[in-house]
Amino acid sequence: MKRAPIKILIVVIFTGFACLLGQLVLSFFMDRINERHTTIMEEYVQNREYMESIKTLMYQHQALLANHLLSENREVEQSYEEQEKNLRSELKSLIVSFSKRMKGGQREKLYHKVYSDYAGYEHNADQLLQFRRNGERDMAIFYNDNMLNPFLSRIDSNLEMLDKMTIEEINNAEDEMKQVSHVSRIIRNVLVVIVIGLIIICSVRSVSITSHLDKYKVQLEQELDEKNKKLRERDEKMLQLQDGIIIGMANLIESRNGETGEHVKRTSAYVNMIARECKRQGIYADILTEEYIERLVKAAPLHDVGKICVSDTILLKPGRFTPEEFEEMKKHASKGGEIIEECFDNLEDKDYLNMAKDVANYHHEKWDGSGYCKGLSGEDIPLCARIMAVADVFDALISKRCYKEPMPLDKAFSIIEESAGTHFDPKIAEVFLSIREEVTRSAMSEC
Ligand SMILES: [Fe+2]
Repeated sequence: MKRAPIKILIVVIFTGFACLLGQLVLSFFMDRINERHTTIMEEYVQNREYMESIKTLMYQHQALLANHLLSENREVEQSYEEQEKNLRSELKSLIVSFSKRMKGGQREKLYHKVYSDYAGYEHNADQLLQFRRNGERDMAIFYNDNMLNPFLSRIDSNLEMLDKMTIEEINNAEDEMKQVSHVSRIIRNVLVVIVIGLIIICSVRSVSITSHLDKYKVQLEQELDEKNKKLRERDEKMLQLQDGIIIGMANLIESRNGETGEHVKRTSAYVNMIARECKRQGIYADILTEEYIERLVKAAPLHDVGKICVSDTILLKPGRFTPEEFEEMKKHASKGGEIIEECFDNLEDKDYLNMAKDVANYHHEKWDGSGYCKGLSGEDIPLCARIMAVADVFDALISKRCYKEPMPLDKAFSIIEESAGTHFDPKIAEVFLSIREEVTRSAMSEC
């Protein structure tokens, strides 16, 4: 899409270069025509000077012959003869030089006419001199008056012929210049039309490509949206399935314990309340992000998943455990971590996997380090497990078990309060007690 203007620019530059080149060629031809025009004018001036010189010399020669006819002195006559020879020699030299300039076409034709007139004049001058030498003065005067003048008058017509010929050459040159100028104008106009046409075509093409790309972009965006929507739907189904599996596993464990799944629901609700209140009060607020709380609520149901490895004899024993039985029971924490590792190892959400393992492994750890299965203390115990511990113990206290009756809520709250700083994280215990009414409502509604 962005390349179209570059193409237009290249076409315009190329066409402009072609236009400039064409104009340079035509300028070259114009210069040549101008040079020829100048040459014609220079040659015309020089040729006219030659013809004027020939005319002047012929008039001088004719005047010399006239004086020669009037002279009676023999010595003067000889002098006239000498002068006449010199003039004639000068005339011949001038005509020879003139002949070298008048080559080809009309010029050569003009030269032959000038030469023919001079030859006729020279012939009659010879006759005049011959009559003069023979003493036939009347015949000589007749020749001078009647036979030489016609040739002299022809020189003027030859000059007119030179003018006419020069004007014709100049007109031809000007016509040629007009033709070149006309061709130049046509080429320039054609090139301008080509440039405008190309710009219009490229612009239309560019708009067309842009429009096509825009439609294609919209189509791709729609397809992408549809695919994203399908992926989101699939992810939601996967999450629902995953949640269903988690809840199903937790309920399965509880059903062995004679419960109906309420413990899972209640502990998840308490965990949610505690975590959100902690965040609201600014306690562990840097850890308790919205994502962290959502993962914790989903991980809570799996806290006792390790009980699947505990035998029914121990799990359903109505009385107190022997030390050996208690040791066996304590294993459910670490077994829970292992089961979660094995069952959910392929989960993309590794943060959830790690949190679920922490909750299972450490929900029986105590703040003072007297818990199991690692004996962690204080903030070494993951926060999720510390929150889970409060929720789990509180619900265990107020629930009926095979080995005990449910404890009154007030007493359960008292035990939580008394165990703050020993069993439970004191901050979390304090937060839990601060939402006592909310917890009570939830506990009563679930009963
Ligand atoms: Fe447990």
